[in-house]
Amino acid sequence: MTRKIRVFIAGLGNCASSIIQGLTYYENANSEDTIPGLMHVKFGDYHISDVEVVGAFEANSKKIGKDISKAILEPPNCTTIFAKVPKLGIDVLPGPISDGVAPHMRESFFAYDESKVKPVNLVDAMKEAKADVLVNFMPVGSHDATRIYAQAALDAGVAFANGIPEFIVSDKTWADKFEAAGIPVAGDDIKSQLGATILHRVLAKLSIDRGIHVDETYQLNVGGNTDFENMSREDRLTTKRISKTEAVTSIFPYDVPTRIGPSDYVPFLGDTKVCYLWLKGRNFGDNPVNIQLKLDVTDSPNSAGVMIDVIRALKIAQDRNIAGPLISMSSYAFKHPPVQIPDFESKEKVEAYIRGEIER
Ligand SMILES: NC(=O)c1ccc[n+]([C@@H]2O[C@H](COP(=O)([O-])OP(=O)(O)OC[C@H]3O[C@@H](n4cnc5c(N)ncnc54)[C@H](O)[C@@H]3O)[C@@H](O)[C@H]2O)c1
Repeated sequence: MTRKIRVFIAGLGNCASSIIQGLTYYENANSEDTIPGLMHVKFGDYHISDVEVVGAFEANSKKIGKDISKAILEPPNCTTIFAKVPKLGIDVLPGPISDGVAPHMRESFFAYDESKVKPVNLVDAMKEAKADVLVNFMPVGSHDATRIYAQAALDAGVAFANGIPEFIVSDKTWADKFEAAGIPVAGDDIKSQLGATILHRVLAKLSIDRGIHVDETYQLNVGGNTDFENMSREDRLTTKRISKTEAVTSIFPYDVPTRIGPSDYVPFLGDTKVCYLWLKGRNFGDNPVNIQLKLDVTDSPNSAGVMIDVIRALKIAQDRNIAGPLISMSSYAFKHPPVQIPDFESKEKVEAYIRGEIER
């Protein structure tokens, strides 16, 4: 008999909203159905309806104190509403702000006044809610805040899914801490279902497999949500650039000049993300091959199904007493995993992991 997977989320923004709506939207899905964006309706022993959000930490004064079902509708969240989430009976808690809110984002995020509001004790809150998994969905650049939440997961004995480009699972010191504590982790920086990174990786791999010599490539991304507003300052997006760039350069067996990353904030795009991809190469006789591609996608739901699979992979690890980084799931589902594995191979490995044929 399986039990529910109790999830806490740090950062109840657009990505969290898409996950929570998806849990309502698909709660009665037939186990044999195919759901866009999920590997399986029933992942191992866990049906999508076994995932339960039991708490959320926030910095936004408009979200704190509200039921999670209402808080996901508060500004600046702007993603599509595709499900009416019933009242969950769980109020959003104030978490430590630390560097989660950049100076240029204090107004956009309606950051609470730290002289008036005291953040809750993260460990106590997660223990009280009997959380199994903590998902990190704070803004890019939350270096210190991520480490505060990761340490809290360690102290509370909760598995950690790191959705953002802060290097925890791919950092040996942190990975070892989780391994030593007997806690599974997956990360870093969630890879969307069909986003710029996977498209770029597939085009790079195809070019190499077909013997094209790639001379240069870029991937420019624009969007209008707070993720893009936050990253409109270059100092905020250093790790995002590293994560997105390494996800592509790791495919090439030689050095290729690249420019890859978030490129501008266009407010009226809302939660639409537009990616412009360019790849210039040579085929037989050094003749030119140029690929130009434009992807237009609703940003936040694009990673929601992937994270729901990650949550279930972490719960399976807990059931099997597996600690430390989940290698196959991290490679399949994240841009900056501890080990980069080609995408089709990592998918097969995750299937083998679900069946219990490989440990991690
Ligand atoms: N497809 C995708 O959308 C995608 C893919 C890969 C990575 N990510 C990453 O996931 C993260 C979340 O994305 P999003 O679009 O939901 O962003 P968002 O801006 O909508 O949400 C971030 C939330 O974190 C909250 N926050 C800020 N500081 C906090 C703190 N100290 N404690 C708790 N909450 C805090 C903000 O108030 C906000 O609600 C971002 O880092 C993004 O880059 C998203």
